[in-house]
Amino acid sequence: MVPAVQTPALVVDLDVVEANVRTMAAALPGDRLRPHVKAHKCTRLAWVQRRVGGHRGFTCATVREVEGMAAAGLGDDLLLANEVLDCRRLGALVERGARVTVAVDSEETIAAAADGGVREVLVDVNVGLPRCGCRPDDAGRLADRARARGLSVRGVMGYEGHATAVADRSERAAVVESAMERLATAHALVGGDVVSAGSTVTYDLNRRATEIQAGSYVLMDSYFGPMAPAFGQGLFLELTVISVSRRYAVADGGLKCLGMDHGPPVLVGGGEVLVVSDEHLTFAPPPGEPVRVGDRVRVIPAHVDPTVAYHAVLHVERAGAPADRWAVDLRGW
Ligand SMILES: Cc1ncc(COP(=O)(O)O)c(C=O)c1O
Repeated sequence: MVPAVQTPALVVDLDVVEANVRTMAAALPGDRLRPHVKAHKCTRLAWVQRRVGGHRGFTCATVREVEGMAAAGLGDDLLLANEVLDCRRLGALVERGARVTVAVDSEETIAAAADGGVREVLVDVNVGLPRCGCRPDDAGRLADRARARGLSVRGVMGYEGHATAVADRSERAAVVESAMERLATAHALVGGDVVSAGSTVTYDLNRRATEIQAGSYVLMDSYFGPMAPAFGQGLFLELTVISVSRRYAVADGGLKCLGMDHGPPVLVGGGEVLVVSDEHLTFAPPPGEPVRVGDRVRVIPAHVDPTVAYHAVLHVERAGAPADRWAVDLRGW
């Protein structure tokens, strides 16, 4: 019989997801967490974070994510933690009653927010990651410019993404601390109630942010797993074995369904991933455990965000059995 779920398929263990949401909410209840939806791009999962975790505000990376969240009834307090030069779609959401705050780090992004109809901003500060954000000592000037354009400045944000690459916990803590010192310098110049920062692997090290923007903790991946052991693996890529040779086997999914920027995936149950190409994953099964054509195998992706973005559907399991199909409805830009 042909199995109901066609592969490659993303499978979500909802029991693990809910446990992860509860664990994080126990550490960071309510508005102490502003979950980042870029990791799962799924409003049904955001609703789990709202219902089970009690979080009201969310972080987004794209205009599309903000739109989708507002359309799903989750528009109470959405932060677009990214620079945007055309804010008209965001302004339209504000017109319809959503609360939207956008990150700004230049005169141009301030002008875009004001011209596009966004009313609230955070000054985005570079805290050490070579990405967006102004210099800490320039944050006060930008806040003044924003206020002069009629914008309300809620505070600052600064994502310490460079700390998430530091495997050792005490070294990571030191990187977080120096990043948050930069953010505190900027906050003193900007004012406002919000100091937004943080991630799945720094949420319990970052003592200065008023809210943490963790995202991966809901589903997790093999790269963050050892650095955030409080959270279980809730996402798997299921594949079908399509060919077997004496030394290896080949499954039916590769680079086009799997984020590989953090390395190859990990096989559930052991074995070694040998090569990942466009549509194939070549692997050595565990010694003494041969696989056959038609067998199903599961792998743990090394990077959850890009993996999810390749897929339109999440196959949701409850107690190990298929329970539902949820759309990855926040995809696109
Ligand atoms: C702006 C921003 N905040 C927070 C995060 C943290 O997300 P995660 O918990 O998945 O590390 C990210 C991840 O890239 C990000 O870009």
